[in-house]
Amino acid sequence: MARLVLLTLRLLMTWISVHSLQIKPLVTEEQLLWVSGAQGQVNTYRIPLLTFTPQGSLLAFSEGRKKSSSDTGAKFLAMRRSTDKGYTWSPTAFIVDDGQIPDGLNLGSVVVDEEIGSVILVYAFCFHEYQCKPSSTMMVQSLDDGLSWSRPQNLSEQLGVKAFAPGPGFGIQKRLEPAKGRLVVCGHGTLEGDGVFCILSDDHGKTWFNGAALKSIPYNQPKKAFDFNPDECQPLEMPDGSILINVRNQNNYHCRCRVIVRSYDGGLTLPIDDVRFDYELIDPVVAAGALEKDGVMFFTNPLNEAQRVNLTLRWSLNHDPPLRRFMKVWK
Ligand SMILES: *[C@@H]1O[C@H](CO)[C@@H](O)[C@H](O)[C@H]1NC(C)=O
Ligand SMILES: *[C@@H]1O[C@H](CO)[C@@H](O)[C@H](O)[C@H]1NC(C)=O
Repeated sequence: MARLVLLTLRLLMTWISVHSLQIKPLVTEEQLLWVSGAQGQVNTYRIPLLTFTPQGSLLAFSEGRKKSSSDTGAKFLAMRRSTDKGYTWSPTAFIVDDGQIPDGLNLGSVVVDEEIGSVILVYAFCFHEYQCKPSSTMMVQSLDDGLSWSRPQNLSEQLGVKAFAPGPGFGIQKRLEPAKGRLVVCGHGTLEGDGVFCILSDDHGKTWFNGAALKSIPYNQPKKAFDFNPDECQPLEMPDGSILINVRNQNNYHCRCRVIVRSYDGGLTLPIDDVRFDYELIDPVVAAGALEKDGVMFFTNPLNEAQRVNLTLRWSLNHDPPLRRFMKVWK
């Protein structure tokens, strides 16, 4: 039955792709996990993340911003869990509480290790260095399908102290060679020291090291409009084992569209030769979603050059890696 539904969905997607249709899907079931407006100890929930687990559950995370909607300020890391494919959800659990500091935690990337069945959240602490120093990269882990979580671990002790904001979105575990099994979490730096940076683990998150860097130009200097300033990003593993990273183009360098970068060595390098601009993926400078699943690439963002309006899901069936024609035709 599930196979038939998938096949029908795929045929429908192919048909829509070929016929350039815009559709408004009928929503038959909606679950509001966190709504706007102050609730209890939280002023605003922001930065939602959602993942499956190897056990088939769904875990949703967000920042519970305590005092205001600002990116700085003290926060909880909030989680809800569903074991029935999203029909019902556990109450909100606060799995990290950063206290009352002026610049607390920021999500973040969730990465699922399918080889050992763990879920890891990597997040920033004191990222903006607002009345605190230094900025740290932190991690919590669950080994029991999201029921319990480890204490925060400070990855900056291994990686060195650097402002690094993972995602927001998901990290990946390489399913294919090169570097099969590797955990890859990509993010960006502070606005002056911006760029796309990836951190890597080859031992299921026990130890981490610095991988690829694609630095902004001019690096570590104030930026002007239209400078090269790659920012928030989402990595995907392509069917050829390369990693494609869909990146926010912070200063609209070259276009008001997404930057596409690619790593052919498991996240060790992001060669400038493989940087592309995807003119079809126009973007108002925002965090966007991207996913590669069974040969279909999905992309979601507010489809507009300037405003965060018209949230749109698009997909591409012709991003075939050997042809390097990825993301040419979006409908
Ligand atoms: C994390 O480790 C770094 C390097 O040792 C240190 O400078 C920083 O204060 C630590 N951060 C936290 C939140 O403990
Ligand atoms: C939003 O999408 C609709 C349907 O395509 C379009 O008519 C409208 O102009 C869009 N709005 C903006 C602000 O882009």
